[in-house]
Amino acid sequence: TTDPLVLGIETSCDETGVGIVRGRTLLANAIASSMDEHARFGGVIPEIAARAHLESMTSTIERALADAGVELHELDAIAVTGGPGLAGALMVGVSAAKALAVSLDKPLYAVNHLVGHVGADVLQGEGLREAVGAVGELELPTIALLVSGGHTSLLLVRDLVGDVELLGETIDDAAGEAFDKVARLLGLPYPGGPHIDRVAADGDPNAIRFPRGLTLPKYLEKHRYDFSFSGLKTSVARWVEQRSAAGEEIPVADVAASFREAVVDVLLTKALAACRDFEVPRLLLGGGVVANARLREEATERAAAAGVELRVPPLSLCTDNGAMIASLGAQLVMSGHSPSSLGFSADSTLPV
Ligand code: KG4
Ligand code: ZN
Repeated sequence: TTDPLVLGIETSCDETGVGIVRGRTLLANAIASSMDEHARFGGVIPEIAARAHLESMTSTIERALADAGVELHELDAIAVTGGPGLAGALMVGVSAAKALAVSLDKPLYAVNHLVGHVGADVLQGEGLREAVGAVGELELPTIALLVSGGHTSLLLVRDLVGDVELLGETIDDAAGEAFDKVARLLGLPYPGGPHIDRVAADGDPNAIRFPRGLTLPKYLEKHRYDFSFSGLKTSVARWVEQRSAAGEEIPVADVAASFREAVVDVLLTKALAACRDFEVPRLLLGGGVVANARLREEATERAAAAGVELRVPPLSLCTDNGAMIASLGAQLVMSGHSPSSLGFSADSTLPV
């Protein structure tokens, strides 16, 4: 039997992603983003995102099919992000996926967005594995740290399509959201992550000791694998306000570097604690914050020191995309899972 040809649709936030895979082989990963439209508001506006998905859906599907060199009737299955994410945005992707499944008479698989990020790592393709931190197949179990503007989650993945445990997540802001908020208070453009990263390169990460959320011993029982970034953001805001009120110049590079250090430190401390606690010698990163230079550098160093294999998919597969959803769909088909009923609904808080 040949591997299944699966088209995956992702619309949980601002990117309209349509990917096509054959089994583990990546054939296409078409993306349209509405980020430019959100930028002037300083955050993703759900209604704008949903409308943009609707406007881009057909052309993005067509582009993916052209890139992959396949025709609709050749597809074996459709996969779609069922949640979590923005309700209206999800609904557009789910509706498109249902329309394809019904009209082509193909099975439909609703998948979890967070698990999809892990699904990205099993993909093979020309030039793809070379870009990955570790070559060869993803071995399980693995710990996965998913960090973006919308989520900050720590997963224990024993089986991609049957045994994924959410160990912890942010109890307030996502890591990327914290980067965006701190960038704004430093007068940097949105989305702020890349700007903080750039400015921080010239700063001293030890200039200011910002708080590491939920790392004090009293939190380690109940919130061992959870994250909190809103206190850090407030602490940076207060530090900047006090200097400004005193008429002092703000050392932007030092603030950016010290803030970035605090985020990276807490992310990796908790992720590697999970590796240790569960005796899992593997850590996979996913989400847009993986672009962060300090996170990549520090993850490489700390993982090596801990004897943990670090896996980082290429950035195009770390940020939200359709290929990761198609990949997880293909895994479901190959492992003999039943398709979703056509009556399922998008669920903005879908658990893993
Ligand atoms: O995964 P993504 O493209 O979209 C979602 O949030 O779903 O992630 C975007 C987030 C934004 O918050 C952005 O500021 C952050 O990732 N980001 C970064 C960097 N590049 C993007 N954060 C820190 N350092 C970066 N280099
Ligand atoms: Zn995501």
